[in-house]
Amino acid sequence: MKILVTGGTGYIGSHTCVELLDNGYEVVIVDNLSNSKREVVDHIKEITKKDVRFYEGDVCDKTLMTKVFTENDIAAVIHFAGLKAVGESVKKPLLYYRNNIDSTLTLCEVMSEFGCKKIVFSSSATVYGSPKSLPIKEDFPLSTTNPYGSTKLYIEGILRDLYTSDNEWSIALLRYFNPIGAHKSGLIGENPNDVPNNLMPYIVKVATKELEILNIYGNDYDTKDGTGVRDYIHVVDLAKAHVKAIEKILRDRGVDAYNLGTGHGYSVLEIVETFKRVNGVDVPYRIVDRRPGDIAACYADSSYAKEKLGWTAEKEIDEMCADSFNFIKKNR
Ligand code: NAD
Ligand code: UD1
Repeated sequence: MKILVTGGTGYIGSHTCVELLDNGYEVVIVDNLSNSKREVVDHIKEITKKDVRFYEGDVCDKTLMTKVFTENDIAAVIHFAGLKAVGESVKKPLLYYRNNIDSTLTLCEVMSEFGCKKIVFSSSATVYGSPKSLPIKEDFPLSTTNPYGSTKLYIEGILRDLYTSDNEWSIALLRYFNPIGAHKSGLIGENPNDVPNNLMPYIVKVATKELEILNIYGNDYDTKDGTGVRDYIHVVDLAKAHVKAIEKILRDRGVDAYNLGTGHGYSVLEIVETFKRVNGVDVPYRIVDRRPGDIAACYADSSYAKEKLGWTAEKEIDEMCADSFNFIKKNR
């Protein structure tokens, strides 16, 4: 059975392709390589010893997407393709709305035309804004503070409207918490070209001395040690959830949202200390002002994903820190 993975050469997409192939699915990737490299396709093949069909191009390109669906009998789609840098989205909102929303509209139009009405969408915990209590459940109020987050919220709304208009659709909205880690092989992982915005890629570059020092954004939050608390989840656990979501949408119609996290909150200082201990490296840091837009703490109640998808995260924080560093050591 063929699954189309948009954004399949990206960080989460590549790990998901591996899990799909390992579970007997065939994989077709469309990616414009705006934030990933072609060699990832070879690495996916090397890990799984399976073939993958790759189309380099833009999901907003309706002619290309029609060609992909004409040439492949696609059973379901996982839609990762999107831009994801929060700061850039504030500076270039039109780019984010155009890319993230247009790609989704084009994809869904072509899916409709070909009678393929099963889609898993990459949403984010960012749709909860500043949560009123913890852990976060799927029925919490939704709000966003930046254009990136708004694209996720709007797309969730678009997909819900689509289901309302046509009950033949099966749609899973996956709200990721903070993915880190990498595949054990060290062949795929996250290696941003620019100075990273997110914590783990930044820590890794300080550990390898590519960057001098980690700035910790505030130690005066109302948390266990004053630094921000997040729900870090191993990217391989996250990838496995996509296989479960595919099974679910192949089985049942409807639209539903699922939190994908571990349910554990770790502070920035805890992550730094764990990374140092597990990898035997130094990570110099200093405390600086809070980052505008950051919240104090965020972690998931993922019991709904357990109940409905039969999925729970299994990997612990030590393994996440070790695998993040292993990937960068092999790919510097
Ligand atoms: P990524 O940037 O590594 O992967 C996204 C891929 O999509 C890239 O390979 C990029 O080249 C491709 N792409 C972007 N726009 C495209 C387009 N119009 N046509 C074709 N390809 C396009 O990001 P990721 O971390 O793997 O995230 C995947 C998805 O999950 C994104 O939608 C992101 O917003 C969402 N998400 C990520 C996180 C996270 O922390 N990584 C958290 C929550 C949600
Ligand atoms: C960020 C995004 C969010 C997105 C999520 C996953 C922002 C404001 N939010 O969330 O929309 O869904 O990534 O991709 O960018 N930190 C430091 N120093 C650093 C980097 C981070 O102290 O150099 C701290 C942050 O203040 C936070 C924690 O580390 O407390 C995690 O930060 P980050 O990895 O950027 O993720 P989020 O802020 O949760």
